Amino acid sequence: MIKLYQNVWHNIDFKSFSECNNKKIADKAFYDKFYERFFERFKGFEDLNKNWIEYKNLVAGELVKEIGAQKNILSIGSGIGIVESIIVDSIKDINITAIEPSEDTSKWIEGTPQINIKYGYFPDILENNLSFDMAFANGVDYVFNNKQYVIFLKSIVNYGIKDFILISSSGYKPSTMALIKDLIKDILIYFGLYRGRQFWGYSRTLKEQVNMLKKSGFNSTSVIYESHDTLIIKASV
Ligand SMILES: C[S@@+](CC[C@H](N)C(=O)[O-])C[C@H]1O[C@@H](n2cnc3c(N)ncnc32)[C@H](O)[C@@H]1O
Repeated sequence: MIKLYQNVWHNIDFKSFSECNNKKIADKAFYDKFYERFFERFKGFEDLNKNWIEYKNLVAGELVKEIGAQKNILSIGSGIGIVESIIVDSIKDINITAIEPSEDTSKWIEGTPQINIKYGYFPDILENNLSFDMAFANGVDYVFNNKQYVIFLKSIVNYGIKDFILISSSGYKPSTMALIKDLIKDILIYFGLYRGRQFWGYSRTLKEQVNMLKKSGFNSTSVIYESHDTLIIKASV
């Protein structure tokens, strides 16, 4: 696992709304401020970068294949809801419960009959007795350190979800170069020379992701998509 740092997202420079902290991870207050700027600048999915939209279409396409005829789907950390929106365009007979901690981020998908948005954290925001055919978490894994990640994954198993799709957009392949770069960053931070970047989260290899899933109670895992930075893993209890 290596640490990730970021200074811009959707072309919004973090320095325009916050101090960047390379030691303390971006918290809910940071995301809330980010989304405030985001909605000032963009008024709909069509305003966003075309390559980013294409990437989200690719992820949604993989999820559509996995969902098949299943009806009740849970999305954890849905953000602006683009992937959920693409899924319901493809599958009309579906109910997606979309959970996102930052309030009002899903305004572009509000009113979509097949999507029920809940602002808060999983599992606290849900009633205990809901049943889902499948859950997915898309681009959320990076916010957790290993200890928090196992707690998060275990909470999915403990909720009773049997089939889970993990989409990680922050994967990396293990290499000596990656480790050297990580070490150099740590040294620069130690000497106060890596300013202007926000500690964004963690990047994991395929092997590390599989270990986390197994440790949390998912007995079987299979990779359904892999690129230089993206991993889509199907995990079952
Ligand atoms: C990179 S965005 C991905 C959003 C969306 N899934 C997508 O693909 O566009 C990460 C999202 O995770 C949310 N998040 C942060 N901490 C979380 C947590 N503990 N549980 C669930 N979501 C979290 C953030 O608010 C943010 O919207």
